[in-house]
Amino acid sequence: MNKVVQLGYLAFEVSSLDAWRAFAENTLALSFGELLPSGGFTLRMDAHPQRFIVEPGPLDDVSAIGWQVADRDALERIAASIPEHVRGTPAECAARKVQALIKFQDPSGTATEVFWGPVLAGEPAPNPLLRSRFVAGDLGLGHVVIGADDPARTIAFYREVLGFRLSDEIRCRYFGHDVDIAFFHVNGRHHSLAIGQRHGKRIHHFMLEVASIDDVGLCFDRALRHNVPIAQTLGKHPNDRMFSFYAHTPSGFQFEFGHGGRVVDDADWQTTTYDRISIWGHHPPIVFAPREARQGKQP
Ligand SMILES: [Fe+2]
Repeated sequence: MNKVVQLGYLAFEVSSLDAWRAFAENTLALSFGELLPSGGFTLRMDAHPQRFIVEPGPLDDVSAIGWQVADRDALERIAASIPEHVRGTPAECAARKVQALIKFQDPSGTATEVFWGPVLAGEPAPNPLLRSRFVAGDLGLGHVVIGADDPARTIAFYREVLGFRLSDEIRCRYFGHDVDIAFFHVNGRHHSLAIGQRHGKRIHHFMLEVASIDDVGLCFDRALRHNVPIAQTLGKHPNDRMFSFYAHTPSGFQFEFGHGGRVVDDADWQTTTYDRISIWGHHPPIVFAPREARQGKQP
């Protein structure tokens, strides 16, 4: 049953607000939203009032993932199936700019919020660095990939309680590690959530999609110019067919910036298991090092 309809917002707790604001505006080309009483700020990409909420703190990790449901009834159905949920106070709902929300932890302890009724705010002033636009709106802000302490239990929760649908899985060896990631959709976007084994931070990366391939290349150039550490070069995934690259946020976790993601139609979708992360590319920057330095560091 389709319950969650999109990835609404991500909240991060970050140790350097200055670094994050410069990164968000100058590399990601997001639009500044507003300053918060905490000293933090919000970021925008479309008519949603705040797609990112950046707050000060030592975590340098995701502090809340906000999933939107269609209406009050959908929220109440989910609330009824999560006995430990806490209802957002009027002040908390006002801060999130939503009609109503509930809070709980997913089975791996990731702070999760489910809400309905974002107070739409019109298109933000466009960031002049962006040539096209972010692909967001009803498809949500992009996707988020999280590490789970107990992937099986966590996946079951998202599927059975929140209504996420499996898109596909990737299982392979990558740089000496076993990769086992499951991808889930809640609307046409190939995945709004992916879940793997947790290694350190709760979030592995979030993804922003743009409407032109040039905007991916321009973001890659900006990352190089601003010394944003590249994590994976330009490449293409076999499952969502996203043309993208990965780099590190000022908090150490990664972002993916891409174009051309596949759209899922549940009427004829067949799940698959892929044996590689990428069709081509997505190499770590070590591939540019002299051959001697690369020994044993390539797949
Ligand atoms: Fe991704």
